[in-house]
Amino acid sequence: MPSVRSSYTDSLRFYGRHTPLELAETWGTPLYVYNEDILRERCRDLMQLSSHTGYGVNYSVKANANPALLKIVREEGLVVDAMSPGELHLDAMAGFPPEKILYISNNNSAEELRNAIDRALLVSVDSLSQLAAFGRLNAGGRVMVRFNPGIGAGHHAKVITAGKETKFGVTPDRLDEVFALLDAYRLTLAGINQHIGSLFMTPGGYLDAAAVLLDLAGRLPDDALKKLEIIDFGGGFGIPYHKYDGEARLDLADLGARLHALIAGWSAKTGYAGRFLIEPGRYVAAECGILLGRVHAVKNNGDKRYVGTDLGFNTLVRPAMYDSFHDVEIYRAGGVNAEQKPMRQTVVGNICESGDILAKDRLLPVMREGDVLGVLDAGAYGFVMASNYNQRCLPAEVLIRADGAAQLIRRRETLDDLTRCFP
Ligand SMILES: Cc1ncc(COP(=O)(O)O)c(C=O)c1O
Repeated sequence: MPSVRSSYTDSLRFYGRHTPLELAETWGTPLYVYNEDILRERCRDLMQLSSHTGYGVNYSVKANANPALLKIVREEGLVVDAMSPGELHLDAMAGFPPEKILYISNNNSAEELRNAIDRALLVSVDSLSQLAAFGRLNAGGRVMVRFNPGIGAGHHAKVITAGKETKFGVTPDRLDEVFALLDAYRLTLAGINQHIGSLFMTPGGYLDAAAVLLDLAGRLPDDALKKLEIIDFGGGFGIPYHKYDGEARLDLADLGARLHALIAGWSAKTGYAGRFLIEPGRYVAAECGILLGRVHAVKNNGDKRYVGTDLGFNTLVRPAMYDSFHDVEIYRAGGVNAEQKPMRQTVVGNICESGDILAKDRLLPVMREGDVLGVLDAGAYGFVMASNYNQRCLPAEVLIRADGAAQLIRRRETLDDLTRCFP
């Protein structure tokens, strides 16, 4: 039975055999709910981008690192990255062997680099200083170097990771210095990688940056090119967050055809027989996740209507941090009150800051206390960026399996969890 605003999830049968009201009743709120079928679908979308023998998908676990989801990603044939000992730990927990994990480090300590080296991982370093640090720890070893192609793309300045204004990557004009360090420590350049930023909806910048990286690879000495095993173009693939406005999707068919032509042409020209990887996070995880919350209070402040919920930015920080838009669904046992006209409402959380806004001045059906809300596309950069601010416990996570059953894949934190580190 349709609820107040649920046509999108109804059309997907997102909640399987359950209703969001039942899930909220059973496991409480805030609650992250993931859908297995959608996760698999997104993995397959990207695995099918190119039929080139060396082509593969390296899922960036920073988007969502729940081991139950990582297992599904593994079953779909993707490899994974990690950029911290914690991400590594969860990759291993999900059954990824070392040869299927790329350690994409950023300003790591010697201890952390050591940890990755001891686990026989291929490590990517993103500065000359880190390359030297790696060389001191693992002379004679294999290494990847992250480059900055000078082209950035992304939905917010905070997530654009190439170009002039960023801490990431070695610029191509320092290739000679890279080789000097490789020689000094007898390192083998086993791979090159880049990541230009997060959330692009048109492929131009990504493909231009990919061409820059291939051009750089083409400038490697022949013997170095022969030893190159991986060229990783990075992630950034966007999804349409405005679901109820019918926002267009990234044209994967177009992107795939152009990327395939690029890598097929280049490997035919150079004889390169290694792997080509893309490194998506958001595209794989975002749409398979919805954050459920409950309305606890509604109020008017002058002509502004506030809807107070348990969905503070401690549970989903993207709106507060990036002014990100997430569509909102509304679930209520009695369904919609057809007479009542939609009105502008601001959905806020329970954190003690005015910036704790989930949806601002949104024209939505009138919300009431007790309603359950569904925040769409919260599967990426949702739970992983949640915090204990205001000493609020982290939410639970539930997975709707392919057979429609709901499975708890992370229990809600308790007050004991909040205090476990105190002596
Ligand atoms: C090195 C690296 N690779 C891949 C990704 C995944 O990006 P996205 O989730 O936009 O696909 C990120 C995101 O920050 C990243 O820093």
